[in-house]
Amino acid sequence: MKNIVILISGSGSNMAAIVRTAEEQNWAQRYNARISTVISNKADAEGLTFAKQHGIATSVIDHKAFASAPQPREAFDAALMTEIDKHQPHLVVLAGFMRILTPGFVAHYEGRLVNIHPSLLPAFAGLNTHQRAIDAGCKFAGATVHRVTAELDHGPILAQAVVPVLPDDTADTLAARVLTQEHLIYPKAVAELL
Ligand code: GAR
Repeated sequence: MKNIVILISGSGSNMAAIVRTAEEQNWAQRYNARISTVISNKADAEGLTFAKQHGIATSVIDHKAFASAPQPREAFDAALMTEIDKHQPHLVVLAGFMRILTPGFVAHYEGRLVNIHPSLLPAFAGLNTHQRAIDAGCKFAGATVHRVTAELDHGPILAQAVVPVLPDDTADTLAARVLTQEHLIYPKAVAELL
């Protein structure tokens, strides 16, 4: 069985879209694959409830618990790797996971690590992508599924979706339009990798 580990930090709507697609398309039979666990760095991430309701094991590794370690990022990533590796994952899927990962973590999952980013990469890596696209006068915005490399929000592009930026858009209205497309392209890209 190919195990898929999904990492979230918040609402987890992309994770939910992947779980629903896996159920609807019967990934267990079609690809011999399953979502084996959902891990959050925040205990109150809403997505954890959805995962539990769908019979998926969940766990929380709170990055704040490592704040006083000599190397907090490395210590958090090491704990995260230990938890992930219990599942011997075929794929590690970042779905709104809002932590910058260390080069060691990225190297450990090379070829198995994917992310979705709410912009048309290579434009607008980093945060506040929707406001930055509006401020730049972009007529189109979108989302990108990409393989993860050591450089933040870079790495080979697997899928993209494009939406118009409308004259009255705020960051929130644009984010909502982009998110509906994320829910389509991310499950499809994961299925293609399987
Ligand atoms: C999504 O828009 C995703 O692209 C973005 O966070 C949101 C998470 O929503 N990811 C990043 O900004 C990563 N840098 P979700 O928790 O409902 O899937």
